[in-house]
Amino acid sequence: MRKKFFNVRGTSDFKPSETLVFQDINQKSRDICQKFGYEEISLPILEERELFLKGVGEVTDIVERQMFKIEGKDIVLRPEGTAQVIRYYLQNSLFKQNDFYKFFYQGPMFRGERPQKGRLRQFHHIGVEAIGSNSIYIDAEIISLCFEILKDIGVTEKELKINTLGCISDKEKFSYTLKQSLSGKRDELCEDCAKRLEKNPLRVIDCKNKQCKNLVNSLNLEMGHLCLDCKTRFNDLLSLLKDMNIKHVYSPHLVRGLDYYTNTVFEITSNKLGSQDAIGAGGRYNNLMKSLGGPEIPAIGFALGVERILLILAETQRSKTLDFFVAVTGQDNTKLGFGILRDIREAGFSADFDYKDKSLKGQLRVAQKKGTKFVLILGEEEHKNDSFVLRNMETSTQEIIKYNNLTTEIKKRMKSLGIEKVI
Ligand code: HAM
Repeated sequence: MRKKFFNVRGTSDFKPSETLVFQDINQKSRDICQKFGYEEISLPILEERELFLKGVGEVTDIVERQMFKIEGKDIVLRPEGTAQVIRYYLQNSLFKQNDFYKFFYQGPMFRGERPQKGRLRQFHHIGVEAIGSNSIYIDAEIISLCFEILKDIGVTEKELKINTLGCISDKEKFSYTLKQSLSGKRDELCEDCAKRLEKNPLRVIDCKNKQCKNLVNSLNLEMGHLCLDCKTRFNDLLSLLKDMNIKHVYSPHLVRGLDYYTNTVFEITSNKLGSQDAIGAGGRYNNLMKSLGGPEIPAIGFALGVERILLILAETQRSKTLDFFVAVTGQDNTKLGFGILRDIREAGFSADFDYKDKSLKGQLRVAQKKGTKFVLILGEEEHKNDSFVLRNMETSTQEIIKYNNLTTEIKKRMKSLGIEKVI
């Protein structure tokens, strides 16, 4: 029997309508990042394994079990972008050139997770990193940028969960207190968490095991570990967010699964997603630079998960994908119709044609299927009168237009729909 091929488990093929939405999400977020003064960088998919070991943390799910390693080499497919951006920043000693950088990036990430709805092995991030400032105003900017992108893309219902881990010594204190509180209950923890409690107690907090979750939920994790500076910083940030009308929920159990975070951590969730409900997440990582051998420079960022956003956005949102369809009847008109098609595309709009000699009814059916806004009909009668029929597919109304006025008229129609130029 012949072998049938399928896409690799945990990867997804984007069909044309999904590709359109995917590109739309990337373009809109690119525009907004630029509006906020962030510069785009494109970094490779392959990185040294050790970068993530040192950056993300040895005792994290990503590093312990999820990295795709290239056989025989100490190279992996990148599981995330933050450590990579800092690698790029340090490699080029950017701190010697400027004391503040704002970057964004878009691209695929790879994690060998158990696939399920919203959890893939290859997925895409829209990531943002602001490097060089510890101001709460940049924390607020990062969060509002994330909100602005989501608003523009059309994700309206979402919740911002926010917490602080405190500075590096607060975080150590937090880890120590957690270890003390759970050490008497070691037998009740899952096998992994019993080990985590020794090596990296904070990771017990994100364990999905029900019993571990119950144990963690019974602990009071509210701000007890914070020094005065970090407590003030966090309270100031929360009141700044309030002033900016950014609703948030203080979530003391939110610690994030990557080790580099200090101070602010946040997650944006949607109730439309089921168990994998985080659309995006981020936080401060004031110590990451030092862990990777660089100077101590504060930074903060976030990443949005594009596939999860795609799940939220109704596929129908962009179902009207074609501006014009040129329908011709009669052999003589094909050449003329083909020319009109080119004129429309040159004017900056999308247009398509029937290449299968279908009847007018058949062509209109194709146009309907493609979600066309307007059909230009060119028959014998129209040819004689140097004109064509313009049919509005939404309202099913028709009008006769002279060839000479083609470009002006189609631009006028598109403008009435609020579209100046598509391509
Ligand atoms: P992260 O929480 O691991 O953070 O990923 C960010 C987002 O990517 C998640 O909220 C989720 O929407 C999406 N995501 C993560 N894993 C998967 C998966 N297996 N399948 C589909 N979507 C997924 C980071 O990676 C940090 N680098 C974010 C950051 C930037 N922090 C500071 N700067």
